[in-house]
Amino acid sequence: MQIRRQAPDERLLQSTPPDWYAFSPSPVSPDLATKLKANEKYYVDSVTLIAEENGQAVVSASAIPMRQNVRGHVVPLAGLSGVASMPQVRRRGLVRQVLTELLGQVRDSGFVVSAQYPFRPSFYDRFGYVGVPKARTARFNPADLTYLQRADLPGEVTWGPIAEGYDDYRALALEILPQRHGFSVLPDSRDVYARDKNEKWLAAARVDGNVVGAVAYTITGHAETLQADDLLATTPLGRALLLQFFARHADQVGEVSVRIAPDEHPELWATDLAVRVETDVTYPTGAAPMARVLSVAGLHGMPVGSGHVSVEIVDDPYIAGKYVLDGTSGALDVTTGGDPAVTLNAAGFAGLVYGVLDPSDVDLRGFGHVPTDSAAELASLFPRRVPYFFARY
Ligand SMILES: CC(C)(COP(=O)(O)OP(=O)(O)OC[C@H]1O[C@@H](n2cnc3c(N)ncnc32)[C@H](O)[C@@H]1OP(=O)(O)O)[C@@H](O)C(=O)NCCC(=O)NCCS
Repeated sequence: MQIRRQAPDERLLQSTPPDWYAFSPSPVSPDLATKLKANEKYYVDSVTLIAEENGQAVVSASAIPMRQNVRGHVVPLAGLSGVASMPQVRRRGLVRQVLTELLGQVRDSGFVVSAQYPFRPSFYDRFGYVGVPKARTARFNPADLTYLQRADLPGEVTWGPIAEGYDDYRALALEILPQRHGFSVLPDSRDVYARDKNEKWLAAARVDGNVVGAVAYTITGHAETLQADDLLATTPLGRALLLQFFARHADQVGEVSVRIAPDEHPELWATDLAVRVETDVTYPTGAAPMARVLSVAGLHGMPVGSGHVSVEIVDDPYIAGKYVLDGTSGALDVTTGGDPAVTLNAAGFAGLVYGVLDPSDVDLRGFGHVPTDSAAELASLFPRRVPYFFARY
């Protein structure tokens, strides 16, 4: 078996790439094959590794070069995608070898963190990933917001096909990136898929010509649902303008369904707003995302609390070692060495960095050992935060 990097146009020469077999209806019809081949241009920046047997690709795994805000520090993020093996070679450890190699290559080329939407988290536990919150969905009747219909808000909403408003939408996401913990963006080459596909409307809230909010959506039918992607807003006014836009669909649709950050509270948006907030975690599709750290040194300078602690990261090919983590300046200072009492595996470390685990969870979840007297230092260094993973792919 040989593992190697696949050239971007090479996939077009394969009859059935493993990820097509795994994720598409098959046998792949000529129409679908044409569509899949046309989509290849959106993956030109991805790093794809394949394992071959008898000249045939039997395993593939890709990393999409993204960017993510981790506690205010924007770092290169490797978004895993297309992890698949052909059924005849499954459970032989080939995916483990390919993924281990892929993560090593992207770490060596400067990626600091990695994230993905797992088909089953227990599979990715072994690769050092920890679960992070899934975005919520808020559902409400826009008639509950009718008071907003005539409200005189100092701004406007522009509307049109997403292809027309795409540049503003992208610019808004890039503006939010440095502001919001967990927020991540795709590379330009992949992000323009939504523009080119042009299957959604885009409503953009503007104040003095500046975009302060945007939401992409579809309408399923009369008296049915306005189905919206993430409600993005940089100010409360931006959000109010978008809610006013939703309110103007009262009597046209019975429900607005909109994706929101996991720490958003729509029950506070308006008086008398009856709203259902939910998340549904299912496998193999519909999982919450998972993330891991690929380089501890790459976190140097990240805004943190004032703790000071030595940790040993164990059982990991990329970040195992002893580190002194110091936050007394307000920015993380990382040096190697020290005499750590804290032991963490990569998932435990990621849980603390992303702010999704309390130090006392580490022992409970089997992610390492945190002595009681180190727990307070760790909690002060890495206060709990709720990451909002925006980019889906
Ligand atoms: C999921 C999939 C990639 C696993 O491939 P594989 O060739 O069986 O993987 P490996 O043999 O390299 O197994 C790697 C490890 O994962 C474990 N594993 C495999 N399938 C698993 C599952 N369904 N749940 C939990 N762990 C699993 C293996 O036991 C092995 O653990 P070990 O290294 O500790 O022994 C393959 O079944 C597949 O292509 N499925 C369809 C597509 C898919 O779901 N891809 C994942 C998208 S996120």
